[in-house]
Amino acid sequence: MTDTLARHADRALHAGEPLIEMTGVGKSYGAIRALRGIDLSVNAGEVTCVLGDNGAGKSTLIKIMSGLHPHSEGRLSVDGRPVTFGSPREALDHGIATVYQDLAVVPLMEVWRNFFLGSEIRSGRYPLAGMRIRRMKAVADEELRKMGIVVRDIDQPIGTLSGGQRQCVAIARAVYFGARVLILDEPTAALGVKQSGVVLKYVAAARDAGLGVVFITHNPHHAYLVGDHFVILKLGATVLDKNRNQVSLDELTAQMAGGDELAELSHELGR
Ligand SMILES: Nc1ncnc2c1ncn2[C@@H]1O[C@H](COP(=O)(O)OP(=O)(O)OP(=O)(O)O)[C@@H](O)[C@H]1O
Ligand SMILES: [Mg+2]
Repeated sequence: MTDTLARHADRALHAGEPLIEMTGVGKSYGAIRALRGIDLSVNAGEVTCVLGDNGAGKSTLIKIMSGLHPHSEGRLSVDGRPVTFGSPREALDHGIATVYQDLAVVPLMEVWRNFFLGSEIRSGRYPLAGMRIRRMKAVADEELRKMGIVVRDIDQPIGTLSGGQRQCVAIARAVYFGARVLILDEPTAALGVKQSGVVLKYVAAARDAGLGVVFITHNPHHAYLVGDHFVILKLGATVLDKNRNQVSLDELTAQMAGGDELAELSHELGR
């Protein structure tokens, strides 16, 4: 499966090279300052994990990268050039693809249709261009199979797949269409142990294919299994920013649990 991802990945990707760089990035929603002073680099061939409690600013951070919301402070650079995205389409044109937890797919549409959503193969000229349905079914079937995603029937609604399989189809689609940066917002949040493992394997495969991966999670164990770089956000600011060799799983877990707060809670609960 790693081979297939590697084949579709951009050949110009060099491990360690910065694809996205943020300096002093901040975002306010009216009077609410959701994010401030964020310095972050997403490098090719690395998994950058963004951790943090509810409301920490994780989704806001990736919405800026994926073009859903413009940042209000600081600088966002892609391939060394400053940008402000006006729409997700603009981010996608820079090779930045986002898999949202719930919005990754259209549940009632067939698997193959979801695979090609927005990038259908057509023949002839607009507006009379017809969709090449047989071809799309064959390609989707072949690509998913090669990536080890076994779907009983490519015509079944994607809503009938398991949550893990759906995430994998969304990741496979992003890579097939040439993403260079893959942003995953809590892809394992609703999954059991086994399905999480499958998704984490895809995260690792995308990294090995040279993509820059941004992995949002609440789970330090999942983060540590695949992460090269770790950022913890709290109330919109960075409280930890370390490479894998600078931080242990225990330290990450303690930081995420909010060590002092947990001790206080234990005291309050009288245990
Ligand atoms: N569209 C919005 N308008 C106003 N405030 C917002 C908006 N989106 C987010 N916020 C606020 O910004 C802060 C950060 O929210 P964000 O969704 O980025 O957190 P998060 O880390 O993704 O949390 P979760 O783990 O719950 O998904 C919160 O205080 C939230 O209330
Ligand atoms: Mg969120």
